[in-house]
Amino acid sequence: MILVTGASGQLGHAILTLLSERGTAARGSSRSSSARGPLVDFDDPASISFEGVATLVLVSAGEAEDDVVVARHEAAIAAAERDGVAHVVYTSLASEGDHLAFALAHRWTERRLRESSLSWTILRNGLYAELFGSLFGWDGSRLTSAFGGGALAAVARADLAEAAAVVADRPERHVGRTYDLVGEPVTANDVATRLGVDLADVSLHDKRVELDAAGLKPFQPAMLLSIFTSVRHGFLSASGSDLRLLLEREPRDAVQVATEAASAGRPNL
Ligand SMILES: NC(=O)c1ccc[n+]([C@@H]2O[C@H](COP(=O)([O-])OP(=O)(O)OC[C@H]3O[C@@H](n4cnc5c(N)ncnc54)[C@H](OP(=O)(O)O)[C@@H]3O)[C@@H](O)[C@H]2O)c1
Repeated sequence: MILVTGASGQLGHAILTLLSERGTAARGSSRSSSARGPLVDFDDPASISFEGVATLVLVSAGEAEDDVVVARHEAAIAAAERDGVAHVVYTSLASEGDHLAFALAHRWTERRLRESSLSWTILRNGLYAELFGSLFGWDGSRLTSAFGGGALAAVARADLAEAAAVVADRPERHVGRTYDLVGEPVTANDVATRLGVDLADVSLHDKRVELDAAGLKPFQPAMLLSIFTSVRHGFLSASGSDLRLLLEREPRDAVQVATEAASAGRPNL
C-alpha cells in the first residue's frame, strides 16, 4: 500500500488524485481530517503508524523553524523504519536551493534517509510557479517585484505531483535516485509581459520593511527574503532534464502558471 502524507495539502492531495487516476491504490494521511486515510501528526510521534505501508510518500512538513521541521521528519522516518516501510519517496528542495533559509531541514532529511535502513528516492522539487507568481505585488495597475532581473526555474505544482506519482507507482525503478525537478527559467519581466503591465523593481531593503510590517510568523520574512535574493542573484535559474524524464512530456508552461497566480493578487481598480 502507498501512503501519501500531507494529504490535506495541495501537493499531497494532487499526488493522491493522480495515483487514483492511474488506478493505483493509495491512502493519504493528514493531521486534521482525511477521508482516505489515518490521522498522522509528525509533531505527535505517538500518532504515527505506518503499519502495512510499502511505499511512503513523505511530503515535507516545512513552514516552521529548522528544529521543528527536523523533529517532524525524524519522527516520520523513525516510524517508517520501525513499521517496516519498504521505500520512502521524499519531496525535497532543488539542488540550487542551498542558499534558501529552509534548505537545511531538507538536506538534513536527505542525509537521514541515506543513512537509514530504508530504500529511498529523493525528489528535489524546484520552487512552485504558483509561489513565484504569488510573491509579486501590485502598485495600482503596475506589477512590483523584488526578483530584479533574476530568473527562477519554476515548476507547476501539478507537474511535481505527477513526478511523485510516477515514482511512487513503480518505486523499484527509482531506488537510490535523487531527481532535480526544475523547470525553465522564468523572470519577473516574463510575467509582466504576459500580463501586459508595467513592472517596477523593489529593493531587498524595501521588501524586508514590507514583510516585517505584514504580521507574518517570525520565520517567514527571512524565508521569503532568501527566495527573493536567491532569484535576484541567479542562484535558482538552472534548468534540468529530470522532470521531463519522469513526466515523459514537456512540463507545463511555468510562465502561464506564475502569471495566473500574480493576476489573482491584482487589486480591483
Ligand atoms: N517547492 C515549493 O515551492 C514549496 C512551496 C511551499 C512549501 N513547500 C514544501 O512542500 C510541502 C508541500 O507543499 P504544499 O503546496 O502541499 O503545501 P501545503 O498545501 O501548505 O500543505 C502542507 C502539508 O503539510 C502538512 N503538515 C504540516 N505540518 C505537519 C505535521 N506536523 N504533521 C503532519 N503533516 C503536517 C499539512 O497538514 P495540515 O493541513 O494539517 O496543516 C499539509 O497537509 C510543504 O509542506 C513545504 O514543506 C514547497
